[in-house]
Amino acid sequence: MIRSRIAGTGSYLPPRIVTNDELAQRIDTSDAWIQERTGIKQRHIAEASQTSSDLALQASRRALEAAALKAADIDLIVVATSTPDFVFPSTACLLQAKLGVKGCPAFDVQAVCSGFVYGLGIADNFIRAGTHQRALVVGAEVFSRILDWNDRGTCVLFGDGAGAVVLAAAERPGVHATVLHADGSQAGILSVPGNVSGGRIVGSPFLQMQGNQVFKFAVKALDEVTRETVAAAGMTLEDIDWLIPHQANVRILEATAKRLGLPRERLVVTVDHHANTSAASVPLALDEFVRAGKIRPGHRVMLQGVGGGFTWGASLVTM
Ligand code: ACO
Repeated sequence: MIRSRIAGTGSYLPPRIVTNDELAQRIDTSDAWIQERTGIKQRHIAEASQTSSDLALQASRRALEAAALKAADIDLIVVATSTPDFVFPSTACLLQAKLGVKGCPAFDVQAVCSGFVYGLGIADNFIRAGTHQRALVVGAEVFSRILDWNDRGTCVLFGDGAGAVVLAAAERPGVHATVLHADGSQAGILSVPGNVSGGRIVGSPFLQMQGNQVFKFAVKALDEVTRETVAAAGMTLEDIDWLIPHQANVRILEATAKRLGLPRERLVVTVDHHANTSAASVPLALDEFVRAGKIRPGHRVMLQGVGGGFTWGASLVTM
């Protein structure tokens, strides 16, 4: 039976760092409040000229290099983003052109902060079906563009960045199981409720969030989907070496690990220096820990996504 495995990881963060203190000079907030409620110390913010496909390109090049492959070897491109360069064409098509290749299918996945786990699940199924052999799965975001920088309740939480993996056909997993869910009745608790119509923005172009409800929903959803995923893989929670939840807020991460009975040492935390980069957060965290030599070949990693929609999901992977 054909399975898929992660053959290389890569990531990219725009160089400009914005600290909590810098934000506190512009809006009524403080480093102490942001750190205590969220664990966030800083975020990276893209230059005005940088788009999601630009960030995705850098992360993709690094993932291809790590996999010792060329862009021409890729036969599927999936980009998870809620901040695409354009309404259309897709960011995946723009990325394909920037990589200098053509022909292979390329499309975006819109599942907000669960987007990378959704993309991984989709690419895994393409490879298991035997129709594709080497997929590029990317999470790329410029969330700074959809924030109201005068709204202290939301703008302090997010940052920009991109992460990518090359998923390749293999005889042994790799990806053991992926479980995905959505509940559209919860759309209102986290959204950017606007669109472009007749040359104008109709509704709001800024992120709106009911923080307390998001917090409760996220912790419960991540707990349940992780248990479903280990069961689908025929494993137990003890088999998990590393837990990489979507990096929303350190309190959500710690509450999730606690509910699952996983020790703090197995929890991957990058939200302190990346903030919440939506679809990019999980592959960014994965790449950081792989390059630091902490996540090593043979380790079992539980990747978790949760975000607007509401959407959530998890994937259990042996590196
Ligand atoms: N600085 C200072 N004060 C602030 C700030 C800020 N940046 N933001 C809000 N406050 C104030 C509020 O105005 C409020 O003041 P009041 O009591 O005078 O009305 C007070 O702090 C408490 O506000 P709450 O919203 O009740 O604060 P809470 O403890 O719930 O923390 C937070 C807010 C951090 C957003 C929390 O609800 C949370 O972590 N929610 C999860 C949401 C999340 O992580 N979202 C990320 C995107 S979702 C995703 O990725 C899945």
